[in-house]
Amino acid sequence: MAPPRPRWEANKKQAAPKTQKVQKPKIFAEAPPPSIPLELQQLLLNIFKNSFSERFATDIKPLLQEVKGHLYNRDFATAFGKDEYLETYAARWSASRALGYADLFWDLRAHLWPNELNSANLDVETSEDAPVKRREIVCLGGGAGAELVALAGVQKMLSDANGHGCTTPSSLNARAVDVADWSSIIEQLAQNVVKAPPLSKYASAALQAANGALIEPSSFNVSFHQHDILNEESSKLLKLLREAGLVTLMFTLNELYSTSMSLTQKFLLNLTALLPTGALLLVVDSPGSYSTITLNGAEKKYPMQWLLNHTLLTQSRKEEAKWEKIHEDESRWFRLGPTLQYPIELENMRMQLHLYRRV
Ligand SMILES: C[S@@+](CC[C@H](N)C(=O)[O-])C[C@H]1O[C@@H](n2cnc3c(N)ncnc32)[C@H](O)[C@@H]1O
Repeated sequence: MAPPRPRWEANKKQAAPKTQKVQKPKIFAEAPPPSIPLELQQLLLNIFKNSFSERFATDIKPLLQEVKGHLYNRDFATAFGKDEYLETYAARWSASRALGYADLFWDLRAHLWPNELNSANLDVETSEDAPVKRREIVCLGGGAGAELVALAGVQKMLSDANGHGCTTPSSLNARAVDVADWSSIIEQLAQNVVKAPPLSKYASAALQAANGALIEPSSFNVSFHQHDILNEESSKLLKLLREAGLVTLMFTLNELYSTSMSLTQKFLLNLTALLPTGALLLVVDSPGSYSTITLNGAEKKYPMQWLLNHTLLTQSRKEEAKWEKIHEDESRWFRLGPTLQYPIELENMRMQLHLYRRV
């Protein structure tokens, strides 16, 4: 259920300095700036800070070291075995990923939410008229909450772009599906997305008046479903997938391949059969992820995206194409803005991404 090496190992060289302000590393000077405004990035970080305020009230570093140690030893049962570890993991790793994913989703908005943009005054060419409900989103392996907070950020931007102001925008339904029990984490994050952040009792009247939730409760529905997607056949999961307009596999597919190549391929073919025409599948993972397959007793390593393309574009195509690839990027950076504030050090992230449409 996990990558061969912990994710922070891959990013180690790009770690931000050990300060609470995240500095812009020089080596990324050529990378384009993030698409989402810094103010929104800070609001998303605040959601993590407020959700895990108890963790941050005391020194979180010893817990972080413990979690890192268990992950490094691939002892996932212990690493995710108690609430304080889950909170520590989400506070440390999901926070920066949420920003990176919000930025990615927003860059892909013409593919992901074309109908939302038609009525908005945005300088974006939409790629299609989506026949499915793109607001039904299933995040496979989405238990640690990064996708959920990123989607809340997108909902805020879509809502602002459409000029909803005081009216309620159409709601976005995010379903996190994960083999581990992340329910308490998802619940805390979901609550903090739709409630005003706590203010000091000394906050000015102006600050108090301006204080509000990121988005309206009625505009964002979140649910958590604990399922092993490789081994369980659940009618609930089947229903979610049949109705999904967008399915995400963020930093999860390579874990699935590492668990079982054949079960992962079977799952992807099932997914192909279940998803409605027009639904999108977004796969994001570390660049250069490989999986090892044993064929006739010989081990061979294949890049993750090769396996994915093979299953979706070649193997699933018996008579006619089932998927088309509509976007890919082998190496996308998300770098944290220098003025962002967070109680602990966060890291820039790099990802490969693949976006497919069910045809
Ligand atoms: C590296 S984490 C990524 C979490 C999150 N998607 C993100 O990008 O921050 C991989 C997630 O996949 C989940 N996972 C692994 N195997 C799974 C399976 N068979 N079924 C469902 N979830 C699984 C893990 O529990 C974990 O939460």
